[in-house]
Amino acid sequence: SNRTTLIAGNWKMNNDVAAAAKLADELAQALPEVPAGVEVLVCPPTIDITTVHDRIQAAPIALGAQNVYWEEKGAYTGESSCDMLKSAGCTYCIIGHSERRDYFHETDEDENKKAKALVAAGIVPVFCCGESLEVREAGTYVEHVVNQVKAGLDGLDITDPAQLVVAYEPIWAIGTGKTATADDAQEVCGAIRETLVEMFGAELADGIRVLYGGSAKPGNIAELVAKSDVDGALVGGASLKAEDFSQMVIKAG
Ligand code: G3H
Repeated sequence: SNRTTLIAGNWKMNNDVAAAAKLADELAQALPEVPAGVEVLVCPPTIDITTVHDRIQAAPIALGAQNVYWEEKGAYTGESSCDMLKSAGCTYCIIGHSERRDYFHETDEDENKKAKALVAAGIVPVFCCGESLEVREAGTYVEHVVNQVKAGLDGLDITDPAQLVVAYEPIWAIGTGKTATADDAQEVCGAIRETLVEMFGAELADGIRVLYGGSAKPGNIAELVAKSDVDGALVGGASLKAEDFSQMVIKAG
């Protein structure tokens, strides 16, 4: 395909401002350029976004947030709007991560509102989906993920495939060291693309990046991105070390 591979780091709730500045500097130094056909993204905690923005400005690294609220402004204590993220330099925002769905009780409807608000603001949602171990073992995981995609992205108004990224993250593979096999990743990422074809048409769906996430690391990134419907990775643990993350970027090229 002609899709640009996306290697995205999700720092989750790690790194205070000083640690974020250090990691951002290390990344900028390790990645003065990226391989052709590869794009790099880092998503720090909200409190670190401005610092990281300053540090990676000259590097070929994009900036994203880990969460957003869909309202424009007002009495929503603790939240950040799309325009606020944009003003801080974010061009991407992760939504629908299983940690947000599980620990903060976010629903498909919430993710749908977030996706629509982001697209309207010109920020690219990195929409996460994925099944639990229980659902995997019950054998209904493809249906489960397809339903999350249909509900979360329903009615999204996109005209360019670069306006949306989907990340398949099987919950049983997150932070566990148990990576899905490249074939497992392809099976579900392929089903996601078929769903995107139904929802947005073949032309757009062909250009939308579908990532895999869950214990992706330097040792398995090449075989994952070699799969036809796996267009990169959403990386947790391995994104916290500049050497590991930059190795993944190079190996994805
Ligand atoms: O968003 C990233 C995923 O949850 C994967 O995390 O690479 O630590 O397994 P992990």
